[in-house]
Amino acid sequence: MSAPNKSYDPVEVEALKPEQIERMRDEALAAFAAADSLDALHEAKVAHTGPASPLALANREIGALPPHAKADAGKRVGMARGAVNKALAARQSELEAERDARVLVEEAVDVTLPYDRVPAGARHPLTTMMERVADVFVSMGYEIAEGPEAEAEWFNFDALNIAPDHPARTMQDTFFVEGGKGEDSGVVLRTHTSPVQIRSLLDREPPVYVVCPGRVYRTDELDATHTPVFHQIELLAVDEGLTMADLKGTLDHMVQSLFGADMKTRLRPNYFPFTEPSAEMDMLCYVCKGTSVGDPDRPCRTCSSEGWIELGGCGMVNPRVLTACGVDPEKYSGFAFGFGIERMLMFRHNVEDMRDMVEGDVRFTRPFGMEI
Ligand code: DAH
Repeated sequence: MSAPNKSYDPVEVEALKPEQIERMRDEALAAFAAADSLDALHEAKVAHTGPASPLALANREIGALPPHAKADAGKRVGMARGAVNKALAARQSELEAERDARVLVEEAVDVTLPYDRVPAGARHPLTTMMERVADVFVSMGYEIAEGPEAEAEWFNFDALNIAPDHPARTMQDTFFVEGGKGEDSGVVLRTHTSPVQIRSLLDREPPVYVVCPGRVYRTDELDATHTPVFHQIELLAVDEGLTMADLKGTLDHMVQSLFGADMKTRLRPNYFPFTEPSAEMDMLCYVCKGTSVGDPDRPCRTCSSEGWIELGGCGMVNPRVLTACGVDPEKYSGFAFGFGIERMLMFRHNVEDMRDMVEGDVRFTRPFGMEI
């Protein structure tokens, strides 16, 4: 602030002279009019209305005036500042309106354009794997058959020649569905897809050729290699004159369709109550084709250098099963096999942890592609 005015005459304070105030006002108005963007206007605002602007400095001179001169000078400066603020506000809304109009045009979204970036959903790799296997058999003339997941014990066990004292029926493997008042309901969550064999035979007259994909349940804890809910695919053929050679040929055709023309299977003796004879089926390792066996320089991760990969169980349908379904075992014979889809997905795609298949994280499923 300058020293008190000697003559107490405001006109003698240079900054408060009317023509100076007018000049300050006009310069401000001209600067606002010339500002062609909100940024430029902001600069002009700081220069002409900020604490260091000529009008603000002039305003501060008023304080040093004698009381009689204050009113006049204050009015002049106040009117000039009022005009400046009004012009600033007007220019501000003008420029904002211009900006809004420009943004509306520049950032307009054409909602009628075709969109191609919405991630498409896809079916789970387990589903596509299961259908790929089923398709092999559908193309050979097999029919898809399904059954309930909550299944009568009779279908899941008895009709398949699994006696009441068979270990598979114990509490350790099977989810039993409770009846009312804690009584036995006679219903279980099916432990395999084999009961669909029984339902298929009861529903149809031979010849019967069915493939049965589905979800099954066992009382396993979820870990890297077990899951209490998993998927199996079951095959059943019942006709006149079917032999183990037909079973072997069918298995070979399946692995060739799924893994390549030079694939084959092998059977190892085993026991299942519902087939006689029964076998464990292996397929040639589709990665090393058996070459890793006895060759420590070229180990195979997929088959642990065994040369073969265990697939599942198979055999000739036990005549007792045919009889339970009203099929004459003297006239008809049949073969069947069943295996787990999770295991097949694991070795076919090097999935190391089964939990990845059930947790639903798209980072697991995405690399399998968007197959629907
Ligand atoms: N049901 C058997 C299981 O879940 C697998 C099986 C073995 C199915 C032999 C068959 C078969 O059809 O013939 O372990």
